[in-house]
Amino acid sequence: VTTPLTVAIPEVVDLSVYDTIAFAVFSTQEGMEIPKGLPQEVEAASIPSILDASFASRHHFEAKVGQTLVVSQQQVGPTMLAVGCAEGEKPEQWRQAAASLVRQAVGARALFVLPALELPGVDALGEAVVTGAQLASYRFGVRTEEPESGLESLDLVVGSGLDAEHSALKRGIAAGAAVADAVCFARDLINEHPSSMTPTLLAERTEQRLAGSASVTSEVWGPARIEQEQLGGLLGVARGSTQEPRLVVASYEPAGVPSKHVVLVGKGVTFDSGGLSLKTAQGMTTMKTDMTGAAVVIAALSACPALEVSAKVTVIAPMTENMPGGAAIKPGDVLVARNGVTIEVLNTDAEGRLILADGLSLAVEQAPDAVIDVATLTGAAVVALGTGVGALLSNDDVLALQLEDSGTLAGEPLWRLPLVEDYEAHIKSDVADVKNVGVSGEAGTISAALFLQRFVGGLPWAHLDIAGPGRCEKPEGYLSKGGTAFSLRTLLSYLRSL
Ligand code: BES
Ligand code: MN
Ligand code: ZN
Repeated sequence: VTTPLTVAIPEVVDLSVYDTIAFAVFSTQEGMEIPKGLPQEVEAASIPSILDASFASRHHFEAKVGQTLVVSQQQVGPTMLAVGCAEGEKPEQWRQAAASLVRQAVGARALFVLPALELPGVDALGEAVVTGAQLASYRFGVRTEEPESGLESLDLVVGSGLDAEHSALKRGIAAGAAVADAVCFARDLINEHPSSMTPTLLAERTEQRLAGSASVTSEVWGPARIEQEQLGGLLGVARGSTQEPRLVVASYEPAGVPSKHVVLVGKGVTFDSGGLSLKTAQGMTTMKTDMTGAAVVIAALSACPALEVSAKVTVIAPMTENMPGGAAIKPGDVLVARNGVTIEVLNTDAEGRLILADGLSLAVEQAPDAVIDVATLTGAAVVALGTGVGALLSNDDVLALQLEDSGTLAGEPLWRLPLVEDYEAHIKSDVADVKNVGVSGEAGTISAALFLQRFVGGLPWAHLDIAGPGRCEKPEGYLSKGGTAFSLRTLLSYLRSL
């Protein structure tokens, strides 16, 4: 896992060992404000008086999130860096602030001086800072000449160093590191080139990741078991590829009686060429990331022990390539899903829903309290919501609200789209129970979700279509170019709330 940045609390605060000392600046109605109650050593360095308002305004620094300003840089000694945090009340403001610190800091060692705030509490603040900082330093690449890396270490101090603050910060750092580690693990899977990250390797990496945790069990199904279990959708999609399909079933059992049982289902198409309904050259270039759903749910499960989630969590991740080989499914073919529903395949590029049909059928058999699937499912979701917002569709208002709130907290906005009953007509087939495409150019994200709904047996269910925000084209904040693992932190925030 590529998390090069270590974050720690120093035993003694010695300002002279740092290249950069960063401090937060808030923007209030009255203007900019440096939070009070900083450590003694820092007060002595006169940070509170260092920010000159006219100097700041000349440099267009308004303490907005993402803004930084070098306020003092001497020949020797640390560079003082003001970091804008807006009102500093929301975890996302601290994630972004920490990310800009990592991107702007001078030298290898930095100290971030944090105020002890009631909102967010010190735990949440520490967690947000660690998550933002570590994710901002995530890199993936196989360039032979690696560009020089930025920060090597980040030390955090909070408030005036009271014991309660110190231990809250420690808890926050541990949680943030667990979250960031899961995201980096998922990003590594997503970014790996597609001929390497086959279903076989994806399942292997999953087993390695989950092994060694006493509260987690996992199983990998190969072609024989998949056939025996009658996963007709997964088998159908896999037919066009020389690579064998896999299905991962994994479970986390909390200590004590589980508060809830949630099944997470993730789309694991390790490369989506479109199959015989072949994509364009351009449309194919990003399709190694079509296993983001699987990576996200597996990574989420792997973080449950460290985050002491109280719910039981099961992950089901069907994995396959979608290729146009000689044995590939053809438009007009009919597949029988795990739950017996027959599917007319009219476009082999609508393959995600075919493998999720089996995944969701298996999920329902466990009779959980909720099922959530995550998939880079439709180009229509990118058209509707762009790359910043994920689509949420659900048959359950409570679950939908919980996920919306978790998304807001995580800085991964979700927007709910309706499961319009009348659009069932869009997926009506002449020869089978359902067809795998809707009406061209009309509500493609909704008809895909209506298709999935046929496999959830009326259980509380939510579908996250992350085709847009699953990828990032321009490194910004705590996102790097490539896979983002969007919705992973939302899921963790949701699971931790149960
Ligand atoms: N993996 C794609 C969806 C996708 C598109 C993800 C762009 C990320 C960016 C999915 O398998 C797909 O091809 N969907 C088709 C469905 C259509 C044929 C009904 C689409 O959206 O075009
Ligand atoms: Mn496709
Ligand atoms: Zn796909």
